[in-house]
Amino acid sequence: MLRPRPSRRRSSPRWIPYYRPQTGRDEIRQVADSIRSGWLTTGPKVGRLEERIGRLVGARHAVAVNSCTAALHMALTACGVGRGDEVVTSPYTFAATGESILYQGARPVFADIVPETLNIDPVAVARAVTRRTRAIVPIHIAGLPCDMEPILSIARRRGIPVIDDAAHALGARFRGRAIGQISDVTCFSFYATKNLTTGEGGMLTTADTRLAERLRRLSLHGLSHDAWKRYARGGTWRYDVVELGFKYNMTDVAAGIGLAQLDRFPVMQRQRRRLARRYGTLLEGCDAFDRPHEVPGTTHAWHLYILRLRPRVLRIGRDALIEHLRARGIGTSVHFLPLHLHSFYRKTLGFRKGDFPRTERESERALSLPLYPGLSTRDQDRVVEALLDLVRRYRR
Ligand SMILES: Cc1ncc(COP(=O)(O)O)c(C=O)c1O
Repeated sequence: MLRPRPSRRRSSPRWIPYYRPQTGRDEIRQVADSIRSGWLTTGPKVGRLEERIGRLVGARHAVAVNSCTAALHMALTACGVGRGDEVVTSPYTFAATGESILYQGARPVFADIVPETLNIDPVAVARAVTRRTRAIVPIHIAGLPCDMEPILSIARRRGIPVIDDAAHALGARFRGRAIGQISDVTCFSFYATKNLTTGEGGMLTTADTRLAERLRRLSLHGLSHDAWKRYARGGTWRYDVVELGFKYNMTDVAAGIGLAQLDRFPVMQRQRRRLARRYGTLLEGCDAFDRPHEVPGTTHAWHLYILRLRPRVLRIGRDALIEHLRARGIGTSVHFLPLHLHSFYRKTLGFRKGDFPRTERESERALSLPLYPGLSTRDQDRVVEALLDLVRRYRR
C-alpha cells in the first residue's frame, strides 16, 4: 500500500490528464521529412508502415487507412456484407463498431459480454448467429484478447468471416499468436489515444492475398492497381474505377508519425504493462473495485485500465466518483456506454434498457484510469491515493 503524503491545501491541483500522447523529436523529424519530400498524401512511408505492422503482427498483408472506422467499413464491404444482412458483435463498444455495420445497410445483432473480461461471450455469439449472419466482429476490449477459439469455430462451421475490431489490441496475443494473424481480417486503430498513433489512422491485416488487393483498391475510390503512384515518375496517369470504393487512404505525414512510434513500440508497451501491474499492486488490498482481468495464455495490450466499482462496498456511484477525481486534478474516462442504449440505436433499431444486462451492469460501474507510457509513478501514486481516500470517505 502507499505511504500517505502530508496533505497540502491547494486551490487547484496539477492536472493529470486521462491521456497524453507520447510524441517527440522523432515524430517531428518524420513529419518534416514527409513535407520536405513532397509526399503529403499516400506515398512510400505508408508502404513502409504497412510492411512493418504486417511483420509486427505476423500477417501476410497490411493495408493502411485513415481510421479504424474506415478499416471496419472496408472489411465488412470486402467480406460481402450488405443490405439486410446481420453482423454479430458486442454492445460493449464504441460507436465505430456499430456504424460501420449500419453503413452497409446491415443490422448489428448484439451478443452480451463475459462480465469479467468485458469481451463478447462466445455462448451468446452462438445464440445470436442466424441464417442471415454474414460476419462476426469481436472487440478486444482494453487490449485483452477475446476467447477466439470458440468464436472462430462457430464462424468456420457456418462459413462466415471473423473481422476483429482490434482498435485497442496492437501488441496483444492469444495463445502465442498475435492479434492480427488469427482472424480473416483484423482492424487496428492509430487514433491519438491508442497504443501506437498516427494522429488519425488505421490498418487492416489479413492472410488472404485477393482480399488484401480488394481492400487496397477500396481504400482509394476503387481505382485500379497502384493508382496512388499516378503522379510519380514511373506511374501512369491512366486509371480505371473498377468498383465503388472509398476515400480512406492514409497520408505519408501520418505514416511518418507511425514509423517513429513503431521504433519505440516495444518500450512503450513495456511501460504500459509495468504501470498496469503497478496499479494492480497498489490497489490489491482495496475491496471497493474489481480490477482488470488477465487471462492465462494471452498477452494484454493494456490500452486501457478499467476498474469496476463495487456497489456493495461503495455508497458513491461512478459518475460522482469521476467528479471527485476531477476536482482533485485527475482525468478519467468511461469505456463504454452500452451502444444499444444510445438514442440513435433505441430510435432506429428499437433497443431498450435490459436487452443486454451484463453489458449494462458492467458499463454502469466502469471507470478508466490514466494509463500511458509517459505517466510518472508519482502521478500514478496520486491517482491511487485519491481513489483510496474517496473509498475511505464513501464506504458503506
Ligand atoms: C473499440 C473501438 N473500435 C473502433 C474505434 C474507432 O477507431 P478510429 O478512431 O481509428 O476510427 C475505436 C476508437 O476509439 C474503438 O474504441
